[in-house]
Amino acid sequence: MTPARRRPARRLPGLAAAALLGLLVPAAAAAQSIRNTAHDLSVSSAATVRSTDVEICKFCHTPHGSTGRVLWNHAPSAWAGAYTWGTQTTTTAGTPLPTSVKAASKICLGCHDGTVAIGSLSNAGGGPGVVSVPDVAVANHIVTGGMMAPGNVNLVGAGGSLAGSHPVSIPYAGQSAYNGINSAVPPSSVNNATGAYFTTTTAGCTNLTGICTSASGAGTNGPAIQLYDEVPGTRTNLGIECNTCHEVHNRYGFRWFLRADAATSDGLCRSCHNK
Ligand code: HEC
Ligand code: HEC
Ligand code: HEC
Ligand code: HEC
Repeated sequence: MTPARRRPARRLPGLAAAALLGLLVPAAAAAQSIRNTAHDLSVSSAATVRSTDVEICKFCHTPHGSTGRVLWNHAPSAWAGAYTWGTQTTTTAGTPLPTSVKAASKICLGCHDGTVAIGSLSNAGGGPGVVSVPDVAVANHIVTGGMMAPGNVNLVGAGGSLAGSHPVSIPYAGQSAYNGINSAVPPSSVNNATGAYFTTTTAGCTNLTGICTSASGAGTNGPAIQLYDEVPGTRTNLGIECNTCHEVHNRYGFRWFLRADAATSDGLCRSCHNK
């Protein structure tokens, strides 16, 4: 920023200057946090759905008595049947759509498919137990008992149906043996310059695998896209889960906890699809 542009700001009273600076900071650069988002279920949250509990992290994590990776504290989806994708059994390219969903996505579905109460935790605090907060109905959001309500826009995978959702628990284009599935997309399509999908190993990559997509253009945020590996840490057999597109702590500050801006642009989709 040039001194000429900074000087007028300094003449403004503190509050006005702060407000002005706030407006000038791009969304992605602002300090982001889970507080007051839809995933802040604490009593002081600004969200519609909240509990009487003062803690935020416990609805998903616990330092003791967890039941899975990332110190998971919430019950995964109780759906035990096969997953369906409407009339589709494969993608257009011919990749089989999964009938079972991997744990990384099943933990999202635990709250989002309406099979488990939002407050069903393995360690509710003060020792293991099961709580059900919020256990009161919130019209159009939560039914009595604490489950996500039928008709809630945030319901995903209800009744085991992922019809109409982007494939998850599926290999990334050109990848094999992810969730028992081989991608039908030929490796020739996975090419940064001309192919249908991007793959570039990016030095500044922030994902767990160290391999991510990198496209250029408005809204794209390739280095933030997070692919999963079949065997954690092996960096091979990469695939897509809910958190490939989402980052549920609001790290990037985009709507719907997305990793790239889909609200105002095609950035998220073009971070993978070279369209
Ligand atoms: C709505 C559920 C939810 C809440 C609430 C939540 N997390 Fe997470 N957190 C997740 C999920 C899902 C993952 C796993 C992401 C993945 O698969 O890479 C995760 C992963 C993590 C990780 C390890 C990976 C990383 O992203 O750094 C840390 C650390 C973490 N969370 C801390 C916190 C803290 C601290 C809080 C409270 C301020 C919190 N989380 C609240 C869902 C949640
Ligand atoms: C502990 C329960 C819980 C878990 C686990 C959870 N969510 Fe949520 N999520 C919620 C609730 C509650 C809402 C708000 C529902 C409402 O307002 O009706 C929400 C809302 C959302 C929204 C909409 C945000 C908005 O601002 O409109 C997205 C996107 C989302 N969740 C994605 C995920 C993903 C992806 C995962 C897994 C990585 C996940 N959630 C795991 C409880 C959870
Ligand atoms: C390919 C990227 C991608 C994947 C994978 C993905 N989402 Fe989303 N999700 C989005 C986008 C983009 C939106 C923005 C709203 C929209 O277009 O509906 C969204 C919106 C949402 C919402 C808000 C309600 C809505 O539909 O608008 C929820 C809840 C949600 N996702 C949960 C999930 C869960 C749970 C999974 C895993 C089963 C998942 N998402 C996988 C891209 C993705
Ligand atoms: C992480 C990379 C990634 C992101 C981000 C992503 N996709 Fe995909 N998409 C894939 C892969 C991989 C497939 C499956 C390709 C296959 O094997 O057929 C796919 C499949 C599709 C399909 C074909 C589905 C079918 O049944 O044939 C469409 C359409 C699509 N994506 C649209 C989108 C849109 C729209 C967005 C943004 C909201 C998006 N994708 C974001 C990687 C991604």
